[in-house]
Amino acid sequence: MARPRASNPSKAASPKPRPPGPLPPPLPAALLERPLDYLMAEHHRHRSYLAGLRYAATLAEIPRDQAARLHLFLASELPLHWADEEEDLFPILRRHALPEDGLAEVLTRLSQDHAMNEALVRTIDHGLSVILDADHDPVPLERRLCGLILTYTATEARHLAVENAVVLAIAGVRLRKAELHGLSAAMKARREAFHVTDA
Ligand SMILES: [Fe+2]
Ligand SMILES: [Fe+2]
Repeated sequence: MARPRASNPSKAASPKPRPPGPLPPPLPAALLERPLDYLMAEHHRHRSYLAGLRYAATLAEIPRDQAARLHLFLASELPLHWADEEEDLFPILRRHALPEDGLAEVLTRLSQDHAMNEALVRTIDHGLSVILDADHDPVPLERRLCGLILTYTATEARHLAVENAVVLAIAGVRLRKAELHGLSAAMKARREAFHVTDA
């Protein structure tokens, strides 16, 4: 009787990454009336876009239409979200959170993430934008770009977890009607200024 061969883990094929779900559609503008819910829903969208980026980096290739949508996200949607937080939500929270909330240090770290990720995202976005006119599809991604994408998506996933579990949770308790109204108005004005009605 033949003896079963011992498996050799070093020769085991790495599992093929599972493709993420479809990229979600824009959020309804009416949700801006509830700015904290809007930001939470954006974080949910961001996770889908991060999954799309991570999958492309893992395969080291990307379909052109996917690259175009991710480029739009990185170049247009993400900067608006960061401005919502840096220019409005974080300053409002610095004024209205209580010392025992321990939010000051958390907000400082998150702002540092924004600054670091801004430079990273600019480089990744440039890498995606230059392949939009490629004459083949899908388009291979350079190893360096894949590395940057994996670094960014890992950092951003941790960032989103802290914002959901700490920042938005405390904001929900500390911000009153007037602050929420001001935040909503600022977020609407920012999107109107950029002619974005549904994202
Ligand atoms: Fe953020
Ligand atoms: Fe955020």
